[in-house]
Amino acid sequence: MEVLLDKIEKASAFVREQIGHQTPLVGLILGSGLGQLADEITDPIKISYRDIPGFPVSTVKGHEGQLVFGEINGKHVLAMQGRFHFYEGYSLREVTFPVRVMKSLGIGTMIVTNAAGGINRSFRPGELMVIHDHINFGFSNPLIGGNLDQYGPRFPDTSEAYDPHLQALAMQTANDLALDIKTGVYQFATGPTYETPAETKVSEKIGADAVGMSTVPEVLVAVHSGMKVLGISCISNMASGILDQPLNHEEVIETTGKVKNNFISLIKGVIAKL
Ligand code: HPA
Repeated sequence: MEVLLDKIEKASAFVREQIGHQTPLVGLILGSGLGQLADEITDPIKISYRDIPGFPVSTVKGHEGQLVFGEINGKHVLAMQGRFHFYEGYSLREVTFPVRVMKSLGIGTMIVTNAAGGINRSFRPGELMVIHDHINFGFSNPLIGGNLDQYGPRFPDTSEAYDPHLQALAMQTANDLALDIKTGVYQFATGPTYETPAETKVSEKIGADAVGMSTVPEVLVAVHSGMKVLGISCISNMASGILDQPLNHEEVIETTGKVKNNFISLIKGVIAKL
């Protein structure tokens, strides 16, 4: 644990040197095809993951791999433009390392976003979903191993992993912007294969509304550290077996590209009210 703590502190000290004394109000994790929100950050300071000691480097198309610090609507933010996925071969500790660094920098709120397959049959591709709760079908947990007592307890409570006040703020902001917004349960699956139609049926039965390959590990670590979390999914496609068509990454990127303006307005609107 000493080794991990040391690594977090070194990475955090490096980022602190680049961004100066200002502590970001919010940390943003930008999912597949949603990285353009970082382009809205004014006076940006960009820090490539490659340059940060201890940081993994992202490999997937649509993920640029840099931290962007600056302002959105007058609030200081630190955005991850590109994230690390379990399916890339990183351990869950590596996947969640940047969240530890955010906490070490003093960030108290995290907004995490993703592209997800719609399970709920009333959903349509292109819609946004405020994450109300999640199901961890990764069957592992980033907090397995020695506990970082300085960050949080051995057995963290996840009964309100997604902050109710932030959920309400996101719903209100979407209504103000006349955006059609849903709320629901996000199910994490490891990927990289998309779900089978039989798995989609299971997901429906157990109460999932959307399925994706990220977010839950980062949220578990953020909750462990006492951070307030808002999660937003962009429904990029319907999950396998719902519509009679195969799934592919190009479709995910195409749909997120089409709705990115709605997505950007929503997140900017929420940040303005923080
Ligand atoms: N399944 C899992 N992950 C996803 C999907 C999906 O249908 N769409 C985008 N990410």
